[in-house]
Amino acid sequence: MKEFVFVKRKNINYVLDEKGHLKKYKPWLGDVFSFLYDSIMEKSIFPKKFNADIEKHFDILKREGKNIHHANILEVATGSGNAVNFLNKVNNYTGIDISPGLLRRAHSRFHESGFETIELYVAPAEDLPFPDHRFDFAFCHLSLNFFDDIELFIKELKRVLKAGATFFCSVPVPERKPAKTTIHGTLYTENELKTIFKNSGFRFESKSHENGALFYFTASRLK
Ligand SMILES: C[S@@+](CC[C@H](N)C(=O)[O-])C[C@H]1O[C@@H](n2cnc3c(N)ncnc32)[C@H](O)[C@@H]1O
Repeated sequence: MKEFVFVKRKNINYVLDEKGHLKKYKPWLGDVFSFLYDSIMEKSIFPKKFNADIEKHFDILKREGKNIHHANILEVATGSGNAVNFLNKVNNYTGIDISPGLLRRAHSRFHESGFETIELYVAPAEDLPFPDHRFDFAFCHLSLNFFDDIELFIKELKRVLKAGATFFCSVPVPERKPAKTTIHGTLYTENELKTIFKNSGFRFESKSHENGALFYFTASRLK
């Protein structure tokens, strides 16, 4: 079983390495503009790059999560804390992200929205700082395309989820992408995602929601 040591600074947990130094990661490009992040997503990324509707996106996420209460939830790539727009407040929320600036903003939003249990960690998706089988449910929105090593992430995801637990994800895919737009990161097709998750021990289910370039799916950890 992996073990981790943390130090908490201004409500954010940092992982210590074996020498007691803070583990640091290169923050995502958007970290510098964390105060502008939400407006860029709403006014530029959603309409121009995804050809999608941000309100519809939150509505889909709210509907998918409406029956989740009092669960240990992991969000991979918390960003600025958009989960306040769709997640029930009575859950125990844990979020990770490599961008401390966005996590600081997320902490204020969760706090102001009345979430009681919030733990935020500066950590990459490929090295989750949690013990095995810790979470009942996990989600990751609009971020999978930025991860350096998707297979390593899925291996870590499987390790920290309980048997039968579900992962819910939204991600832009190339076959739905409007012509002429550039979406950064590595775009996997729906079939590629299905194959990677199935080969890693998950039951994969494509969701039928239509919202521009975005593909919504769940992957449940088999026993
Ligand atoms: C487009 S934002 C999405 C944020 C949030 N999930 C949302 O829906 O608004 C992408 C996020 O992925 C994070 N990110 C990029 N690479 C990562 C990695 N390897 N591990 C964890 N987070 C990462 C960035 O810091 C950023 O917060």
